[in-house]
Amino acid sequence: MAEIRVQNLHKAFGDFVAVRDSTLTVRDGDFFCLLGPSGCGKTTTLRMIAGLELPTSGQIFLGGEDVSFKRASHRDIAFVFQLFALYPHLNVRRNIAFPLVSQGVPRVEVQGRVLQAAKTLRIEHLLDRPVSRARDRAPAQGVHDGRATRRA
Ligand SMILES: Nc1ncnc2c1ncn2[C@@H]1O[C@H](COP(=O)(O)OP(=O)(O)OP(=O)(O)O)[C@@H](O)[C@H]1O
Ligand SMILES: [Mg+2]
Repeated sequence: MAEIRVQNLHKAFGDFVAVRDSTLTVRDGDFFCLLGPSGCGKTTTLRMIAGLELPTSGQIFLGGEDVSFKRASHRDIAFVFQLFALYPHLNVRRNIAFPLVSQGVPRVEVQGRVLQAAKTLRIEHLLDRPVSRARDRAPAQGVHDGRATRRA
């Protein structure tokens, strides 16, 4: 894990300001919740931290590094969507393995880490199923969490 620091973050869509001068620090290891009324800019803030949206102004630091204008793929950050976004053509095992394989982790290590994640999440029995048949809410959330946590 790493510290997330957001400084004077601002996001406008045309004339509409979605995030206004937001500053916060999530320390390494913290469990942090963003709470607020619908439309106050929570998702937009998270999307900017992940790199799915670029700030209009302000800065985002991950582990002390300024990533404000880096692509999501260059930020080394995982995120779990509220609505599932699994790779439909890959089975459960491959969905969880995907970020590790992309990072070039050796195959044997990938196998071990995927199995460990599946045990923790109690979805071992689903590993070789297509994700299309693992779409009950709880197991699908497990596959998601597995994929997000295995990259760490
Ligand atoms: N791509 C966009 N274009 C224009 N306006 C947008 C865009 N994305 C978000 N907004 C607007 O920015 C504001 C903040 O949206 P955001 O989705 O961040 O809110 P939220 O706090 O996550 O709300 P909720 O609790 O409903 O999920 C909203 O008024 C929304 O309509
Ligand atoms: Mg939201």
